[in-house]
Formats: sequence, C-alpha cells, structure tokens
Amino acid sequence: MYNNWEDLEKSIEKCKKCKLCTTRQNIVFGEGNRNAKIMFIGEGPGADEDKFAKPFVGRAGKLMDMAFEAVGINRQEVYIANIVKCRPPGNRDPHEDEVLACMDYLRNQVILVKPKIIVLLGRIALQNILGKEYRITASRGIWVEKKEIMYMPTWHPAALLRDETKKIDFIKDLILVDKKSQEFE
Ligand code: URA
Repeated sequence: MYNNWEDLEKSIEKCKKCKLCTTRQNIVFGEGNRNAKIMFIGEGPGADEDKFAKPFVGRAGKLMDMAFEAVGINRQEVYIANIVKCRPPGNRDPHEDEVLACMDYLRNQVILVKPKIIVLLGRIALQNILGKEYRITASRGIWVEKKEIMYMPTWHPAALLRDETKKIDFIKDLILVDKKSQEFE
C-alpha cells in the first residue's frame, strides 16, 4: 500500500499483473476529487475509456453525467474508479484473476480518498466489494454500512441504456446518496 498518490500512480503505470495489459491501449486509473466524500466504483473501462484513459466518458458515462446533473451531484467533486483498470476485450466481464490482480490498487485508492459513501455501479462492483452473496436486483437502493463507509449499490449506467425503466431507480438512488452526503458536511 502506498500512502501517496504519486507512488500509487507510478506503481500502476506499467502494470503487467494480468493478461488485460496485452490488449489495453491505456490504463484507466480513475479521476476526480481525491478528498471526495462520495466515490463511485464501476466495473472496468470500455472502448472510449480505454482510448481516452478516463473513466465513464462513453455512452454510459454520458448518461451518468446527465443523472448527476439532474440530482445536483458535481462530477468534479466525486471520485470515480473501476474494479479493473484495463479494458476487458469486447467488454466482457472481468475474470476472477484479473479482479484479484487489480483489487489492491482500488483498495489503495479507497484508503487515500477516505470516502464516506461508496456507490457501487452494478453487479461486478457490488459482488467484488461487498461479497458474492449480494444480488444487484435485491440490493440496489439499500444502504450497507461496513467499516464506517456507507455503500449504495445501484444499477450500472450501461444497464439504463438497455432498460429505460431503470433510470428512475438510478436517479432515486443518487438522490439518497446526495442527501446522505449532506450529513457529512
Ligand atoms: N463502464 C464501467 O464500468 N466503467 C467505465 O469507466 C466505463 C464504463
């Protein structure tokens, strides 16, 4: 574990801990306010993220930005990261060994940001952070408190692109997050 961002970023720069390094264009480290109260954790970079080296800049990201705007969450104020930092080819789910190889980076990011709230975007984030026994359909919209962090599982924004009816849930969950964050002012 690194106690500063520079060392952590340097350690990840040339990462070859899993096979995703052979197909990536860029590592998507994460971005945002490094002292954020709210941290968002997605699954892994897609094609646009791989190209631009930034999280959630493709279609799903644009939808998430619109939801942020609707709720009054400022993207600049939160921190956004992913379970895996390199794109799984064809947007497949990350494999177990890839998640394991990458998890220490995310743990280190959480330790450095010290968020009060972590929003888990979709099943992959939920199950790898809180446990395989969690189901996104049953868990979304319900707070889970663990080691002084409040976790809010919600749909992955890409799911909203496939099913419009999930948008209202997503907005509702973000409203809960925004309200809760005000308790930590
Ligand atoms: N989907 C994710 O899970 N993360 C991104 O950064 C982009 C799309």
